[in-house]
Amino acid sequence: MTSKCKKGKIVTITLNPALDRTLYMPRFLKGQVNRVECERTDPGGKGINVAKAVKALEQDVVVTGFLGENNTELFTKYFQQENIEEAFVRVTGNTRVNIKVVDEENSEVTEINFSGVSPTKTDFCQLEDKIYSLAKECEWIVLSGNLPSNMPIDIYAQFIKNLHKYNCKVILDTSGEALQAGILAKPYAVKPNIDELSALLGKKITMENGLAEGISYLKQAGISLIVVSMGQNGALAVNDSEAFLVKPPVVTVGSTVGAGDTMVAGLAVGLARGLDLAETMRLSAAAAAAAVMLPGTQAATLQTVNNLLAQVQITTWRR
Ligand SMILES: Nc1ncnc2c1ncn2[C@@H]1O[C@H](COP(=O)(O)OP(=O)(O)OP(=O)(O)O)[C@@H](O)[C@H]1O
Ligand SMILES: [Mg+2]
Repeated sequence: MTSKCKKGKIVTITLNPALDRTLYMPRFLKGQVNRVECERTDPGGKGINVAKAVKALEQDVVVTGFLGENNTELFTKYFQQENIEEAFVRVTGNTRVNIKVVDEENSEVTEINFSGVSPTKTDFCQLEDKIYSLAKECEWIVLSGNLPSNMPIDIYAQFIKNLHKYNCKVILDTSGEALQAGILAKPYAVKPNIDELSALLGKKITMENGLAEGISYLKQAGISLIVVSMGQNGALAVNDSEAFLVKPPVVTVGSTVGAGDTMVAGLAVGLARGLDLAETMRLSAAAAAAAVMLPGTQAATLQTVNNLLAQVQITTWRR
């Protein structure tokens, strides 16, 4: 099927989702008895975070990947409630729980992460079936996050190569070796943060130094759209014809966790809607800033995003 016949629905793939369990306490004392004041549990994992934000921008989205069969309820309830289409493969065991202990007085967060699911060969074949059947009808596919420990490091690269055959365009957002291997398969877009780009090039890159080299490296690898995010300093976005520095609105920070995932959601939505690069980055940066204002990894309302659009500053980048 040619991309023209495909729907604007975005697919996100999360191989290693998580239940984010946040425990709030006035003070967290190591080695002592601590009492939880309140708690919340949210479905998480990078691809799921991207999907939350895509849906909040009112674009259709379908989530797939692996879910541990023992604790699916919170996920399925959430997907139903948010009207997110779900196509996860159920695998033996629990989806991992990531515990975040919030010390409110010191504004410190201690994280305790469990290891994730271990999909079998059969699970993997089932996932491939789901992905390639979605690929027949959807053009934009987001691959994000880290991998279950028993998956080959080039698994994203394998998906990307096969997805090319379906005329799909992949946005890849991962780190380390999975990013390094994934790039070789030429995803359409990548969104490393500046630390991930530094690790990729094996040298410290800052806003002032090394960005041009990082962009050249990714361009030479054949990637069409490169977005390097730099936290509150914004992002650099480069495609085949344009290059922009994107300065985000100044906002009061609730939580910056998942800001990058929201930026990826904005990219996917902008690209699926055929927006130009400047418009896509305006949407992405406004969505990310709006999400930063909220605690946890919640997506902001479309209205909050729209209110921030005009405050995103976009200038031409000259290397
Ligand atoms: N404090 C902030 N104020 C406004 N915008 C922000 C802030 N922090 C991040 N952003 C926006 O979010 C984008 C992505 O942030 P960042 O570079 O931290 O991503 P990341 O490290 O990939 O995050 P994560 O992987 O946790 O989702 C930035 O380019 C910026 O536009
Ligand atoms: Mg990130």
